[in-house]
Formats: sequence, structure tokens, C-alpha cells
Amino acid sequence: MRKVLFVCLGNICRSPMAEMILKELVRERKLEFEYEIASRGISREEEGNDIYFLAKRKLYQEEIPVEPHQAHQITQRDIDSFDDILVMENSHKKAILRNYRVEYPEKVQRLLDTDISDPWYSGDFDTVFEQLYEGCLKYLEKRL
Ligand code: 4NP
Repeated sequence: MRKVLFVCLGNICRSPMAEMILKELVRERKLEFEYEIASRGISREEEGNDIYFLAKRKLYQEEIPVEPHQAHQITQRDIDSFDDILVMENSHKKAILRNYRVEYPEKVQRLLDTDISDPWYSGDFDTVFEQLYEGCLKYLEKRL
């Protein structure tokens, strides 16, 4: 069982979108029993909140099933228990390495080679979806 955690800032846009996308890709490949997939935020700003409605709408448009969600800040326990911690921006990696004890820093990786910018401010959920989808496909290809 491989445990994968997506991390963004608020845990209401990018990381839960990536979580739903990877879950769907894994289901399509009949690998759902080999992966545990979840998401968290760096901040506590959105604690308990659902996925932002524009993020949800984009997932529905792309026929990605959307599970119930409550935003949560990443904890030390998460850092210790997940195998791969996939962040959206370099700043998220820095924040994790600064604020938590990370025994294996190499498990904290950016999902893409570039930052996936925040759709909360840009409103561009199309580009973000494309980037997240590409990142999730590449992650799976590396694993197979
Ligand atoms: P996310 O987007 O990091 O992709 O979930 C954000 C959502 C909320 C906030 C920032 C980013 N916020 O500051 O409340």
C-alpha cells in the first residue's frame, strides 16, 4: 500500500482536486487497493470547509467523481505516515521542512517541475486542472 498526500495552501482547491483526479486514475487502472490518497493544507484558514465550488464544478465537468471533503491542516502524524507528500509550490515544501520534523525530506516533492499557481486568486481552474492531471499521470507512470 502506497500512501500519497497532496498538499496546497488552503486544502479547498488544488490538493483536493489532485486527490480526486489521482483516485480516478487509480480506479481506471484497477489499482485502488494499492493506494491510499488524501490531501491537506499548509494553513488552517479553511479548516473544515468543503472543496471550493469552482474547483468542484471543474471536476464534475471533467467527469471526475467528487467525494465529501473537509479541509485540514497537515500534521506531524501525516508527515510521518505518508510515503509521498506532493506539494503544489516550492513555498509549500519550504514551509513543511521548516515547520515539521521530516525524517526523509526526499519524500516531499513538487507535483510538477513548475509551481501550480493558486486558482483561488487567478480563477483559472482550467489550467490548474490540466496541470494537476499531468502531474498525477506522471506520478503514476513513475510508480509503475
Ligand atoms: P488552495 O487555494 O491552496 O488551492 O486550496 C486557496 C484557498 C484558500 C486560500 C488560499 C488558497 N485562503 O487564503 O483562504
